[in-house]
Amino acid sequence: MPPSRTARLVVLAAGQGSNLQAILDAIDRGQLDARVVLVVSHRPDALALERARARGIATAAQTLADVRAQGGTRADFDVWLTQTVAAAHPDLVVCAGWMLILGEPFLGTFSGRAINLHPALPGAFIGKDAIGQAWQAAQRGEISRTGVMVHEVVAALDAGAPVAVEPVPIAPGETLDALTARMHAAEHGLLVRAIAAKLGQPIR
Ligand code: GAR
Repeated sequence: MPPSRTARLVVLAAGQGSNLQAILDAIDRGQLDARVVLVVSHRPDALALERARARGIATAAQTLADVRAQGGTRADFDVWLTQTVAAAHPDLVVCAGWMLILGEPFLGTFSGRAINLHPALPGAFIGKDAIGQAWQAAQRGEISRTGVMVHEVVAALDAGAPVAVEPVPIAPGETLDALTARMHAAEHGLLVRAIAAKLGQPIR
């Protein structure tokens, strides 16, 4: 990508969209020379989609159940996702609260151009509720810190070469709500730094 061109981002999101908002805020502040051109979700009621529509950003949504109800398969969902994202010509695909494994042909099409945010340190607490899993482990005295990471998207869930990692200590007696709030705050900064790194942009 020529360094002078504003980067095109496609965000895959199925949650509250606070990380999508962090990206949009960073763009507004001039920290990223980028534009979110499409937000895709596997949950049509995701707040992330509402945040996108409020900004006039194109959205696309379909559940796996919708595809299966029409006689389709998981492979059909992956083809729809890949074609939908490819049509937006992204420089980078950012998974920010995407909760499905990404299969072929997505991986083959976007390998090296797709990153995933996950609220755990590399190799720890994969899948859903990673913050809760870490908090429970801390209550059992097994760990005293967790963290957030952005990694390259690969076939395995919440794995792939780390792009950026930030440890988050778990304070003694800290509630799950308090830890969750600090984890999200850490994610919002880390994700913007990781996107800048992938785009080869200096962080401003
Ligand atoms: C974030 O905590 C993100 O790390 C997590 O979903 C949340 C989405 O929050 N992703 C995963 O757990 C991926 N395995 P948001 O919708 O407010 O951005």
